[in-house]
Amino acid sequence: MSHPSITFDHAITRRPAKSIVDGLRAIDIGAPDYDGMIRAHDAYVAALRSTGADVRVLDPIEAFPDAQFVEDTALCLPQGAILMHPGAPSRVGEVQEMAPHLREIYTDIRSIQGGGHIEGGDILVTGREILVGLSDRTNAAGVAELETIAHDWGHTVRTVITPPGVLHFKTDCSLMDPETILSTRKLDASGCFDGYRVLHVPDGEEAAANAIRFNDLVIMADGFPRTAEMLFRAGFKVVAIDNTDCAKLDGGMSCLSLRF
Ligand code: GLY
Repeated sequence: MSHPSITFDHAITRRPAKSIVDGLRAIDIGAPDYDGMIRAHDAYVAALRSTGADVRVLDPIEAFPDAQFVEDTALCLPQGAILMHPGAPSRVGEVQEMAPHLREIYTDIRSIQGGGHIEGGDILVTGREILVGLSDRTNAAGVAELETIAHDWGHTVRTVITPPGVLHFKTDCSLMDPETILSTRKLDASGCFDGYRVLHVPDGEEAAANAIRFNDLVIMADGFPRTAEMLFRAGFKVVAIDNTDCAKLDGGMSCLSLRF
């Protein structure tokens, strides 16, 4: 199946910096291990490349400990890219680090530049619309700015809710195909996916909900065998990547790339 929501020629990633030990986290469960993070990042890039996509790996930036989570800096759509305005003050500068790379690729680049905040982790592009979850990082003013731009490009934006205590909307969900969502039961219970086919991550495997569909692959975090089995049985080709160290910074599979 080919569709702009799951079919990509390119991805941009950023190699983790040694400063990841200072990365933001909701709960401190120990410092991420740099070597482990690099090994996992290399495996992630290899998985993306195995689909035939051109994958750019940007240099680490020590000044921005969360900069490997490039997804939060921009929304890439077929018509153009939108530079975000992160709600985390320590991450705002990451956007200007990403901008020149997107300018090499896109002719139409817009920015969230009013008072609003929005991070890419709160945005799920499905086969029919753009869902944006309000969260501690994304507010209504940010969504309104995004909606104006996306509407210009022919997209519909729908505001939804990120469950309390969850970092980003996509911490709890992923697109598996244009009409199929992988979600925690908690997020799906909000009704935000009514009308879609929804696959629930099994109880106890909620951290598996952040995955990506990238061309013919579903790339998910390792260590969630029941979710992997469910996706395999549903017909998806699954690759699992160690997410141990990223998870210590509340990061996952979607956070590590911009895909377009
Ligand atoms: N550590 C990722 C974030 O909080 O944005």
